[in-house]
Amino acid sequence: MKKRLLFLGPPGAGKGTQASLLCKNNDFLHLSTGDLLRSEVEAGTDLGKQAEIVMNKGELVSDQIVLALVEKKLTEQARGWLLDGFPRNLSQAESLESLLFRIDQPIEAVVLIAINDEILVERLLARGRDDDNEKVIRNRLEVYRNKTAPLIDHYFSRGLLKSVEGDAGIDVVASRIRESLN
Ligand code: AP5
Repeated sequence: MKKRLLFLGPPGAGKGTQASLLCKNNDFLHLSTGDLLRSEVEAGTDLGKQAEIVMNKGELVSDQIVLALVEKKLTEQARGWLLDGFPRNLSQAESLESLLFRIDQPIEAVVLIAINDEILVERLLARGRDDDNEKVIRNRLEVYRNKTAPLIDHYFSRGLLKSVEGDAGIDVVASRIRESLN
């Protein structure tokens, strides 16, 4: 199985759910920039205070903050890793490429979890995180379309993209992902 991975997909697609399962079963490092940022918010750090305002609007936190968090984690030793929620725009993708080149750990596959908007909104409203109200969810979807979705072509043109339908139960989606990575 491929072991240096990236998950792409709109908010609510199931990136975090599927990433946790795959990493637990394969002993990979699960690196979620959303979780890292939420830990900073919870700890009340200066970085967390800055990030919280941006996250509660559904906008993207600055590349500088996110990159510092990722670099620290990626250099830890692990059997493999999975980036969930990062990169989020082309500039983060380029910074990631130079970091991975420096540490000689190229990406082996990018999994896109594809799903339609109405299912996403329903799932997120049912979850109810601080940024899961209808207005903020719609903005997160808009930010995804404008800033993150261009990464689909970026990774497709590099021959790394695997697209998986996310509109089924958790176990079914997990097995679709596993198959795409063999
Ligand atoms: P982040 O935490 O990355 O959130 P997101 O991308 O909006 O994704 P979600 O966590 O909402 O969805 P998911 O796809 O992980 O789905 P999940 O598995 O949770 O980012 C939050 C914010 O942080 C951003 O808006 C931004 O401000 C900031 N940020 C993060 N990274 C950044 C970066 N790199 N640069 C700048 N800013 C950054 O599932 C959702 C729900 O659906 C759950 O309740 C789950 O139980 C349920 N579910 C999952 N799969 C299924 C299924 N198959 N069937 C039914 N229900 C399911």
